[in-house]
Amino acid sequence: MMSAVPRYTRFVPPQQQLIEGIKVSHQIIQDLNSRYTAKKYDESKRISQDDMAVIKEAIRLSASSINSQPWKFIVIESDEAKQRFHDTFANMHQFNQPHAKAASHTILLAYDPNFTKEKFAKRVDAEVASGHLPADMYDMFMGAYAFAEANTDEHGYNGSWTKAQVYIALGNLLHTLARLGIDSSPMEGVDPSLLGEIFKDELDGHVCEVALAIGYHKDGEDYNHGLPKARLPMDDVVTTL
Ligand SMILES: Cc1cc2nc3c(=O)[nH]c(=O)nc-3n(C[C@H](O)[C@H](O)[C@H](O)COP(=O)(O)O)c2cc1C
Repeated sequence: MMSAVPRYTRFVPPQQQLIEGIKVSHQIIQDLNSRYTAKKYDESKRISQDDMAVIKEAIRLSASSINSQPWKFIVIESDEAKQRFHDTFANMHQFNQPHAKAASHTILLAYDPNFTKEKFAKRVDAEVASGHLPADMYDMFMGAYAFAEANTDEHGYNGSWTKAQVYIALGNLLHTLARLGIDSSPMEGVDPSLLGEIFKDELDGHVCEVALAIGYHKDGEDYNHGLPKARLPMDDVVTTL
């Protein structure tokens, strides 16, 4: 029987407790300091279905340009699906392969390489049905497809734009998981080609180039756990005018 796991707060050394005047005691900063990329998972610990429901809803609520939602998220939960995911590491990136079975779940994040105007219309339908957009503004909202068009080549490919939207969902997920006290490992070290073959039906034309293993790290065996954050100084990355 798999056990649900109590939430934990990661220890922050005293010298890190004030960074550039920011109180790391703020909940947001604590969450972002406590999350890290797990390198070894505890196979005996599984995420509760209540937390999985929060995670799936957080994915669904992710923002995207023009509310395009040009994505598909495949949650790998069953042993059968884990075996299929494990098989996709046959040719490359085997360093990530152990997560396929040891992590509680893995989420495949996939983008639509051909996000058409017809697909956008389905989103605009939802805009109206939800009450967010007045029906008489339908055509005006359809005009926003120009943002997609500006990123579409002569073959209808707009994958670099739709992939950017998928990464917003990834960032949203990382923060959500930190809040839930669940460990995670983003993985660009996946094989889009084998994923495309082995999860062809589920991907339904979408392309997966990044996945997220989620679960609980193995105590004492994850070399990356408990280390300080390694980030560039504030002045190198943020300019306030
Ligand atoms: C888009 C993305 C892809 C990544 N791919 C991998 C990967 O394939 N394998 C891995 O072990 N870590 C991967 N990482 C983890 C990064 O190396 C890690 O996020 C970075 O070093 C910062 O460390 P932290 O996540 O522990 O804060 C990836 C991270 C991101 C955001």
